[in-house]
Amino acid sequence: MSFRQLIGLVEGEASAAEVVAAYHERTKHHFHRYAAALGYMDWATQPDPFRRYAGADLVRLPLPKAGRPLPYWQLYANASVPPMPLSLESVSLFFRYALSLTAWKQSGDTTWPLRVNPSSGNLHPTEGYAILPALDQIGDAAAVYHYAPKEHALERRAVLDAKRWNELADSFSEGSFPDGSFFVGLSSVHWREAWKYGERAFRYCQHDVGHALASLRIAAAALGWRLVLLDSVSDGTLSSLLGLDRDEDFAAAEREEADLLALISPELPAPLPAESKPLTAHGGGVLWQGRANTLSPEHSVEWPVIDAVAQATRRCESSPIKEDFSGFPSEDELFGTPIRQGLLTAERAILGRRSAVAMDGSTAISRTAFFRMLARLIPTQERRAMPWDAIPWRPRIHIGLFVHRVDGLAPGIYALARDPDKVDILKRVMHSDFCWHRVPDCPPGLPLYLLQEGDCRALATTVSCGQNIAGDGAFSLAMIADYKDSLATYGSGFYRNLFWEAGMVGQLLYLEAEESGIRSTGIGCYFDDPVHAAFGIEAREWQSFYHFTVGGPVDDGRLTTLPPYNFEEQQ
Ligand SMILES: Cc1cc2nc3c(=O)[nH]c(=O)nc-3n(C[C@H](O)[C@H](O)[C@H](O)COP(=O)(O)O)c2cc1C
Repeated sequence: MSFRQLIGLVEGEASAAEVVAAYHERTKHHFHRYAAALGYMDWATQPDPFRRYAGADLVRLPLPKAGRPLPYWQLYANASVPPMPLSLESVSLFFRYALSLTAWKQSGDTTWPLRVNPSSGNLHPTEGYAILPALDQIGDAAAVYHYAPKEHALERRAVLDAKRWNELADSFSEGSFPDGSFFVGLSSVHWREAWKYGERAFRYCQHDVGHALASLRIAAAALGWRLVLLDSVSDGTLSSLLGLDRDEDFAAAEREEADLLALISPELPAPLPAESKPLTAHGGGVLWQGRANTLSPEHSVEWPVIDAVAQATRRCESSPIKEDFSGFPSEDELFGTPIRQGLLTAERAILGRRSAVAMDGSTAISRTAFFRMLARLIPTQERRAMPWDAIPWRPRIHIGLFVHRVDGLAPGIYALARDPDKVDILKRVMHSDFCWHRVPDCPPGLPLYLLQEGDCRALATTVSCGQNIAGDGAFSLAMIADYKDSLATYGSGFYRNLFWEAGMVGQLLYLEAEESGIRSTGIGCYFDDPVHAAFGIEAREWQSFYHFTVGGPVDDGRLTTLPPYNFEEQQ
């Protein structure tokens, strides 16, 4: 069956752009019809949340001692954290802060793990990789590693000879691959999400990649490192670099789709360096080991539209995106006074992050906290605002807010234009009777506007698939993407990047909520077109890509929390 038949297009071979547009339309949730999914939980085929490569050497990472005093605010003050040297300890701390387990939950006889990075349905489709140089106590040659979160360990997938490592490092112009630099990669097992969520699952996998990318960036910041997405690498090269194209290592096991590669370095300049020569797929000089485990005994259902959209969004090698941020606000303009104090350590915020399962419907937040959370979502003029320094494009995700309880702010619908130049176009595409009043006392660089006063708790709940968390928080929001123009500008592959950007926004909201003593939750289930209607968006050019809620959490007292690792058992 061709793509065009799969996604309901009529005559002719479908272009990548048509496949993406058709996928997006057909995976919308409507009031009267949800996107196609199995409709029940097929427990017999539930996928294993942990990929392992049998036969690959396992390098255990020592569990870092808890209690690092680095304050949370310092994550955002680039250059204020002295870079840690690359070592067994720093690699361990990096993965602990980026992708590790943070708790096991128990209800009756059932236990399940939770991680630093969130995931739709806690299904965790995202797999993490590192390509590291030779390092004492990790490996005496450069190698490709898969991160095994349950063991907090690295599986050595491939050993690279010195020539191959030098080729990778030499892709960067002189001086921009300093000692201590390495690569990280992310991939997705689409089946893990599709098992439960059917056709919409590709969207959720991409959100999760965005959360994980922010998580990697934040972990790097905690160690004084920079991280930059290598956006010009083709998906074919990436598959080769991470070993995902090796049919012989997967056999019947579920494949992983290559998503992204990033460079981590103790001292990257801003703006960040481009590759001087393109990174190349592995040729010789690489010795592979390990076979992927099978995650489900069988797949009772296939979702071919996911394969179709995955294929349509694969990237060829391209030139890196370079954009001008000179019109963006400075840190002072965004925050008023830059934040140099706070409640939590970075570690408490990162490892303590949790989704609220319910909101209390009563907690209000201060205007100061609200403005600070929103200011974190905007890149600065100097391109130094973490995590926005990791991605090269100007924001394509803007925020439509449902404000319920923010002290001193009228409840109602608000908008935050994450790119100040997009205010005028947002005014044009949204309801013509929105008032677009600047919010009083808001820092001058924060493009935040009141659109319409009123109680929008019921509206927020309704459009978020009837989930009370959206109406019972202090505020909830829709992430509205400059969708068609983004795809026209950067190509169909950028469909993924829009979800990544939305996921990064979400990851910051999670941490900012922790720092404010409250909680938040990602909301992937929302009724797409009713959200557009709420903001008066008629044009297909602008589409809602993700929802979020922030407020006072209600804990589920029936659950017991257990520690993430029992390291005595492991030694
Ligand atoms: C992309 C995405 C979509 C999500 N959608 C919903 C949702 O619609 N409703 C909800 O209650 N939680 C949602 N969540 C929260 C997840 O259920 C939660 O992240 C997961 O159970 C793991 O828990 P943790 O975040 O505390 O680690 C979503 C999370 C992500 C990352």
